[in-house]
Amino acid sequence: MPSINRAAWLHVKGEKLQVGDAAMPEPGEGEVVIRNKAIAINPVSNKIQDIGIIVQQWPTILDYDVSGEVHAVGPGVENVQQGDRVVAFVFGPYGGDPRFGAYQLYSVARAEKTKKLPDDVTLTDASVLPVGFNTAIVGLCGPPGQGLGLPLPSLSPEPSGKTLVIWGASSAVGLQSLQVARAAGVTTIAIASPHNFDLCRSCGAAELFDYHQASVVDDVVKAVKASNGEFAGVLDCISLPEDSYKFCIPILEALGGGLLGVLDPQARLEVSENIKVVKIMGMNEMTDAVWDEYLIPALREGKHRCLPEPLLAGEGLESLQKGMDILKKGVSAKKMVVTL
Ligand SMILES: NC(=O)c1ccc[n+]([C@@H]2O[C@H](COP(=O)([O-])OP(=O)(O)OC[C@H]3O[C@@H](n4cnc5c(N)ncnc54)[C@H](OP(=O)(O)O)[C@@H]3O)[C@@H](O)[C@H]2O)c1
Repeated sequence: MPSINRAAWLHVKGEKLQVGDAAMPEPGEGEVVIRNKAIAINPVSNKIQDIGIIVQQWPTILDYDVSGEVHAVGPGVENVQQGDRVVAFVFGPYGGDPRFGAYQLYSVARAEKTKKLPDDVTLTDASVLPVGFNTAIVGLCGPPGQGLGLPLPSLSPEPSGKTLVIWGASSAVGLQSLQVARAAGVTTIAIASPHNFDLCRSCGAAELFDYHQASVVDDVVKAVKASNGEFAGVLDCISLPEDSYKFCIPILEALGGGLLGVLDPQARLEVSENIKVVKIMGMNEMTDAVWDEYLIPALREGKHRCLPEPLLAGEGLESLQKGMDILKKGVSAKKMVVTL
């Protein structure tokens, strides 16, 4: 029987997702068709649904994180084959081709962004990785202008002698960034809520501070100075004026300036000359090889974890809107996932 595709479409900004038919994709050169089994939901999808940013063509199919089984491969694909259990970063609404959206039964992914999973990593767990890990890699290890220029993660890290501040360490990008920093030999001073301190510590945070405390800026500045490492900058995984910029900028000022990595590509920040704002974009070719050389072997060896833990919104494409609604209200160290 021929396979039938269905998708949770966003027809226009401001509307809810609607499940309906979608064309069954054929893989082109260097492309893989994946039968999705788990889809993770990212906060940007709520922004797209509300205000219509990024979308080049309506209706659209949202989001980027899928895991499942390879259904078909196109010419020139050698890294995966039919039936393989894989995780992939798809392009979502970027580029305007709905075949590359995540919220459907069958998505198309570029072969270089499709990675075969170790047997003991579940598809549901793996679905939380692509956006979070890729953004952590670009943010920490991207070259000047793209990231903070830290070493790439390694399975046997050497101490780098550098100290990094991560604001919002319990977020999806934060938990991946802590682990990448540890694997890059970088000491991290992390900011989160106390109920997430143990989790952040287990991902490598050397020191933790509570963002609800009035003393947080002073405490972080003292900890960076006491670390004796070379200050590598602040990665702001929250990137909102009142929630994080208000604190991250004074931390940098008190430390004499440096790099401020932010996750909002549209951010317009007024900062003194000695602070350099780096707008981080997780979609970057530099991440592809890091999956092969670090992440997949590290998952196999238990040196890197699929975090935040998935929080299941339900099963089936109909549950995606529910997952988006829960995420919009806010989650704590969890990633909304829908299984199919
Ligand atoms: N540029 C890119 O390529 C890119 C990629 C990925 C994400 N992003 C953006 O980055 C942002 C974060 O995304 P995400 O998926 O990582 O977030 P997320 O996981 O949904 O973030 C929620 C976490 O942040 C913590 N938190 C909330 N407010 C905080 C604050 N004021 N200070 C410190 N921690 C706080 C929460 O913990 P508690 O409430 O329990 O403290 C919770 O654990 C979003 O705006 C997203 O669109 C951009």
